[in-house]
Amino acid sequence: MRKNIFSLFMVLLFSLLLASCGGSGKEKAAENVYPVIPKPVKLEPQRGRFLFNQDTRILYYPANDELKQIGGYFSDLLKSAAGFSMQVVAADEDASKPNTVFFSLDTTLDLNDEGYLLDITTRAIEVKARTPHGVFYAVQTLRQLLPPQVDGGRQVALSDLSVPCAKIEDQPRFPYRGLHLDVGRHFFPKAFILRYLDLMALYKYNTFHWHLTEDQGWRLEIKKYPKLTQVGSCRKETLVGRWRGEKNATYDGKEYCGYYTQEDVKEIVAHAKKLHITVIPEIEMPGHSLAALASYPQLGCTGGPYEVATHWGVFKDIYCAGNDSTFKFLEDVLTEVMELFPSHYIHIGGDEAPKDRWKHCPKCQARIKAEGLKDEHELQSYFIRRIEKFLNAHGRDIIGWDEILEGGLAPNATVMSWRGIKGGIAAAKMHHDVIMTPGSHCYFDHYQADPKTEPLAIGGFLPLEKVYSYEPVPKELTPEEQKYILGAQGNVWTEYMATTDYVEYMVYPRACALAEVDWTPASEKDYGDFLKRLELNLEHLKAMGVNFRPLDKDAANTQEKQKEKEQ
Ligand code: ACM
Ligand code: ZN
Repeated sequence: MRKNIFSLFMVLLFSLLLASCGGSGKEKAAENVYPVIPKPVKLEPQRGRFLFNQDTRILYYPANDELKQIGGYFSDLLKSAAGFSMQVVAADEDASKPNTVFFSLDTTLDLNDEGYLLDITTRAIEVKARTPHGVFYAVQTLRQLLPPQVDGGRQVALSDLSVPCAKIEDQPRFPYRGLHLDVGRHFFPKAFILRYLDLMALYKYNTFHWHLTEDQGWRLEIKKYPKLTQVGSCRKETLVGRWRGEKNATYDGKEYCGYYTQEDVKEIVAHAKKLHITVIPEIEMPGHSLAALASYPQLGCTGGPYEVATHWGVFKDIYCAGNDSTFKFLEDVLTEVMELFPSHYIHIGGDEAPKDRWKHCPKCQARIKAEGLKDEHELQSYFIRRIEKFLNAHGRDIIGWDEILEGGLAPNATVMSWRGIKGGIAAAKMHHDVIMTPGSHCYFDHYQADPKTEPLAIGGFLPLEKVYSYEPVPKELTPEEQKYILGAQGNVWTEYMATTDYVEYMVYPRACALAEVDWTPASEKDYGDFLKRLELNLEHLKAMGVNFRPLDKDAANTQEKQKEKEQ
């Protein structure tokens, strides 16, 4: 009897608690989960859910076009799933109405410019941030809290169109959170680039590094130099399988072409802007330039003829540094690039430029003499500095791969450390900004598991957990020097990724892990917890038809067991 009274009391108490959450969706009150990636700095779970319905409105203050646009973006996101559009309306500062999503800006908040406060109650959703960028990220968090079908644009029962109540305070650890894509080795259509950006926004990446020119293809329309795309965007055939030298090579015999028109680029850059992503174009120099030399042979030391490369590797023919017409050409190209890309940074490559041709080129040797340079490394440094000067004069700064340290670093250059972390450390110690992208942790072209069980990749081994374990700030730096580390970037070289499906397979879910490296405080990271969130979070990618690599079976359990063993 006493037991029955106790049970009755518990049932009553539970019902009261649920009722206090209001609205329908009560049955879900006790099972709120928060599969948000990257993990927010602070998330206090609350009981209950906010339910969207036909009357839910999005209010924003102040009357700011960007906020209005983010409201429209959120409304569009829900539209197919909900079967209705939420109204987006400018409001007063103190608007606090039931059944609203309220965005407001407040520059006095103690957050950085990409941070946000998100308060989800059963009554309303309130978002506060210093800038629209922060509001946009609150919306991405909401997106991950909504049912995954919403991202798939599939109709959801109204009773399921809800987010769990929570109080969230969030901001990124690093200001640069990058993902790269090589479209030189393989070309991917505009629609895929737009989708790549959409996925980046979901994980709060803010920089897309677009590697546009390569030995195997020049992918960007330049009006002043039409041969770059007429000639340079096509190769006559492509290597089959792995590159093991010419003696062992077989080719597919099929012409391979592709490039982005300037109209395509404008559309991509505009789309990225809406997603608060900066697109940094990379125009490679002095190496990885065979496609340009094939188009304009006078830009090389020997005068050619040259062919767009048909296999992978590093090629000896590079831009001639002794020829003033090389600089005229590059400045003209960069002028069009700057018109297309508003990014503060232009990436000028700088990696893997063999000096063989320069050693034997009378023009290059004459340049070394005339400029009082010590050797070909200093000639490369001269090359990069000259280009930097041009771009600086137009208000832009350069990023270069860590080879630009050799022969002397250009005065205002940011270094992308890829051959391990040494280049990053050296640059930070010289008080230059650094983006960390070491092959050991950030190269998504490496294998994710035993090569015997995986599709062909370039080599290396970079499982999900290793990406997650990455700490971008080297211990070798003093606290003052650490400030030069802007963040980390995942690199996606596509020699062995011929299809968009395969790119997605290689990028996800590793890009989810790197997103957390870039965003979440190191002290808050926990791989076991990440895996649990990831398992649910991947349902969003599934709903969108993303061809991500499935998690290893029992990866979470293995992690738990490992932890138990360690304790
Ligand atoms: C690079 O991976 N060559 C920068
Ligand atoms: Zn030369």
